Amino acid sequence: MQTHLATRDCTSGLPCVNTGERWALDYHSRPVTADLRTPWRIGLVEIPTRLVLAPMAGVSVQAFRRQGRRFGAGLVCSEMVSCAGLSYRNERSLGYLLISADEHPLAVQIFGSEPRLMAEAARMVEAAGADVIDVNFGCPVRKVTKTGAGATLLEDPGRSCRIVEAVTSAVSVPVTAKMRRGLENGSRAALDVGPRLVEAGAAALTLHPRSARQMYTGKADHSLTAELVELVDVPVIASGDVTSREQTVEVLSQTGCAAVMVARAAQGNPWVLAEIVGDDGAPRPTRAQVAGELLFFMGEAVRELGEERAAGFLKKFYGWYLGGGRFPKPLKQELVQLSSVAEAERRLLAAAPGAAAVSEQLRDESRGLDEVLLALPISAYGGG
Ligand SMILES: Cc1cc2nc3c(=O)[nH]c(=O)nc-3n(C[C@H](O)[C@H](O)[C@H](O)COP(=O)(O)O)c2cc1C
Repeated sequence: MQTHLATRDCTSGLPCVNTGERWALDYHSRPVTADLRTPWRIGLVEIPTRLVLAPMAGVSVQAFRRQGRRFGAGLVCSEMVSCAGLSYRNERSLGYLLISADEHPLAVQIFGSEPRLMAEAARMVEAAGADVIDVNFGCPVRKVTKTGAGATLLEDPGRSCRIVEAVTSAVSVPVTAKMRRGLENGSRAALDVGPRLVEAGAAALTLHPRSARQMYTGKADHSLTAELVELVDVPVIASGDVTSREQTVEVLSQTGCAAVMVARAAQGNPWVLAEIVGDDGAPRPTRAQVAGELLFFMGEAVRELGEERAAGFLKKFYGWYLGGGRFPKPLKQELVQLSSVAEAERRLLAAAPGAAAVSEQLRDESRGLDEVLLALPISAYGGG
């Protein structure tokens, strides 16, 4: 299946996904068919596909991002990193700055409410090798909003703009902003703040059109995303409830966005990314492929987080990979009760013997990249 892209230029200088209405207005912009593998740009950074893998706290580790790239995401994002954490050289926060060669282009997301600290964090993130710095204007979690960061900033456009100005002045990579619609249900704050952030220097905007109060209930209202697209001359990325190729095509044509962002649908299901970018006929993964991909992911997570942290981190992934009828329910229940990753690996191999060959092949394919994996330039630590 293909979606339609019009020939009209947007500020990226590349074709924009367009709505039927725009085609009617623009006589020479005859609809051309193109797939989601049409490149686009954020500032000078070229993004090879129209699919962005979302930032997700507790999920978007390097192993997840590298997997997303392999399955067709054009841009991958780190989870949100605290600017205060970076400022205090908190080990966990610094760990989020580990970037490998096969992740590029990569956006690292920072959150905070102090322009000066955000600028300092942005410098560290740029030094670590991020291609794009994304600023969080959407986190609805109380621990974050009560500090004046995340979605709270949507109600404080002055501070929001000062943050984007400070960050853009501090770095040379493009700076983007990810917003919710506002704090309260029905809020249209993003339509006010978004254009101001662009004036302050944001090179692209992402909108998840739910309120902070909604958390993940109700539906993402992409009519608001379409309104935002009309108000700004930078690429807009649509986030929220994109779970299939069909929805992707619908959201792109409804909104005129440059790209879609996928979050929850990719949890334990990288195959959906391949389906979305248009690997037609990508067959449903076999049990061996699912278990093999999970085994490889487990190995990468251990390498990245260490055995103890990985054991806890991986538990939610067992349900995501093995659920949905892929494996009998008791397997997931068994795995989450095991205390070590090695035990979980053994159990998984017994349930799907063909998985060993799949994960071995994935390991072979990634071997050449290992040298640069987990490399963190000393400058990111500030030398201290
Ligand atoms: C577990 C989880 C963690 C998330 N963490 C972040 C985050 O760190 N930064 C952010 O901007 N959005 C975060 N989000 C929001 C997603 O990026 C995305 O906007 C939202 O889930 C809607 O997309 P979806 O319907 O595809 O899941 C998170 C979402 C989930 C489910």
